Amino acid sequence: MNNSVSSSTSTAPVILELKNVTRRFGGLIAVNDVSMVVRTGTIHGLIGPNGAGKSTAFDLISGLTALSSGSVSFNGRDITRLPVDARVAAGICRTFQTSRLFEKMTALEVVMTGCHLHGSTGILGSMFSIGGKMRDEMQMAARARALLETVGLGDQTETPVVGMSYGKRRLVEIARALATGPRLLLLDEVASGLNPVETEAVGLLIRKLASDGLTIVVVEHDMRFVMGLCEQITVLNFGANIANGTPADIVSNQEVIEAYLGRPRMNAVPRRELRRQAASTAQPN
Ligand SMILES: Nc1ncnc2c1ncn2[C@@H]1O[C@H](COP(=O)(O)OP(=O)(O)O)[C@@H](O)[C@H]1O
Ligand SMILES: [Mg+2]
Repeated sequence: MNNSVSSSTSTAPVILELKNVTRRFGGLIAVNDVSMVVRTGTIHGLIGPNGAGKSTAFDLISGLTALSSGSVSFNGRDITRLPVDARVAAGICRTFQTSRLFEKMTALEVVMTGCHLHGSTGILGSMFSIGGKMRDEMQMAARARALLETVGLGDQTETPVVGMSYGKRRLVEIARALATGPRLLLLDEVASGLNPVETEAVGLLIRKLASDGLTIVVVEHDMRFVMGLCEQITVLNFGANIANGTPADIVSNQEVIEAYLGRPRMNAVPRRELRRQAASTAQPN
């Protein structure tokens, strides 16, 4: 896979900003005073050991859970108190760490459930020249088919999700998220459980979507995948934001290295390999 990324996006406008965001669950601080900036059209990694607060951060951005303090803005608008459906309509959509698909549905039906949530202004809407007034089921089915084609499942529209491999279900979930017409896509543990071929396919899909203008935040434990894909990375540890930077910055950051020491999932990739990945990421095309 070509690991290089464009550096021209580093000055792109900010699409998402978390300012001093905290979420408490009783005495536990799941997300602790986190500030983070994501720029339009970039692939941004959010990493950290298990329990670091990554999924909770996605919940806070997508509106599934309320902040204890701090603020979230999207496209310059304060969305801190906006409910989930309004955030979806504004263009924020996430996938989940564990599959939440309705297993008896076909891939097409699943993606159509996303079409029903479609706002009026997403990148994908304009990509397929559909516009915002789509009400009719046939148009939705056509759009869902096009999205399944985009994720490489154009020949699986009538396949029940229950019969699909884990990797393909992941792709269906992404197609469903795309059907909501997002400007910002949050992918939680997007490559976990995938084989190398599936992982590569998901990586290529993410690149394609970003090159079409979508902004993507990726949570993933596979460091080779994250370092090869992301332009900027935010690292959480015990809820706190311990580093922000390019892959090259992150792999040489002492606090990050210490946070991961003894963590087999990160150590599955030797540090030399992380450096090699970061070096190739940093090189221009
Ligand atoms: N709904 C909840 N109620 C109580 N504790 C929670 C809840 N959701 C997450 N947590 C806790 O918050 C911390 C961060 O969890 P999470 O965001 O899932 O971490 P990650 O996704 O980085 O593995 C963990 O200690 C987890 O047990
Ligand atoms: Mg998680």
